Amino acid sequence: MSRLHAAITGVAGYVPEGILSNKDLEKLVETTDEWITSRTGIKKRHIEREEGKATSDMSLEAVKILLEKTNTSPDEVDMLICATVTPDMTFPDTANTICDKAGIKNAFGFDLGAACSGFLFALTTGAKYIESGSHKKVIIVGADMMSSIVDYTDRTTCVIFGDGAGAVMLEPSEEEEGVLDSIFKGDGSGRHFLHKKAGGSLMPMTQKALDDRQHFAYQEGRQVFKAAVNGMTSAVKEVLEKNNLTFDDIAWLVPHQANMRIINSVADMIDFPREKVMCNISEYGNTTAGTLPLCLRDYEDQLKKGDLIVLTAFGGGFTWGATIIKWAY
Ligand code: UT7
Repeated sequence: MSRLHAAITGVAGYVPEGILSNKDLEKLVETTDEWITSRTGIKKRHIEREEGKATSDMSLEAVKILLEKTNTSPDEVDMLICATVTPDMTFPDTANTICDKAGIKNAFGFDLGAACSGFLFALTTGAKYIESGSHKKVIIVGADMMSSIVDYTDRTTCVIFGDGAGAVMLEPSEEEEGVLDSIFKGDGSGRHFLHKKAGGSLMPMTQKALDDRQHFAYQEGRQVFKAAVNGMTSAVKEVLEKNNLTFDDIAWLVPHQANMRIINSVADMIDFPREKVMCNISEYGNTTAGTLPLCLRDYEDQLKKGDLIVLTAFGGGFTWGATIIKWAY
């Protein structure tokens, strides 16, 4: 029997209705639409404003659409991985809550961190379960409600992040398609430049932690910018070389949407045509684990069966990597 591959058989996404525009941010912090647009490429982000709504609720909306699009009954799903750094609670995992809310009763699930690389790491993890033959319908969610950990008095971070969720279905295929190969890297010394310190075992949530605003995301932008460009560029090159592919073979590059200047720098450094680079950062900002599946969702109509696509991400950790997929429908 030929080796099983994990094919993506559907993609879906959800962003909340609430909009936070650059003009809105001008009223919150010392910034301008011009600065945000020219330095990041972001025009607006979607924010969940309804009280009591969490990452699982955005994910649920994406999963419901995915089940309908792939004609899948919740009972058939046997695994769900949720990539997120904004889980509903520290425990239990948000994946379990999503399954409960979606009526997925025959599956096990867990969360995966890895920040902005979370969706990519989860995609390859889920693919292994399909390739081994042990699981037949695996849902990979990438979702973050960044508004729950963003400090709206800090202009260096609040202009960047937004809320959103995306999801893909993985199913076995005997054709050589779906998730083909990945290169993943990590460097824990990067934790000093991008983190949320309070609420874990290092710094349990206390009044002092709150007063010191340690419950919000912290980023040293310039350090992260340089590492993101270098990390994504080298990972993309490495995964293509390993698979004897050239940039001419690639139909689409799907980079993590953190900053338009990072996206353009990566494309330019590998001499890849910008019109073949998926980009929707102007609409959503950086939704962390949500960016890659939301790109696939937005460009789905332009994808053709057999297209070779390279996804790449860089995020907190530091974590980074690149994955080659062959589009299966
Ligand atoms: O997704 C996870 C990975 N994250 C990323 O990849 C994000 C990587 N970093 C970035 O995208 C960029 O570094 C930022 C968008 C965060 C910042 O842009 P930058 O071009 O690197 O700006 P900077 O930090 O070098 O700051 C330049 C100036 C500073 O003023 P001075 O010191 O030159 O007077 C900042 O205080 O811009 C100032 N500044 C702002 N001005 C207006 C920083 N944020 C703002 C703002 N509005 N929102």
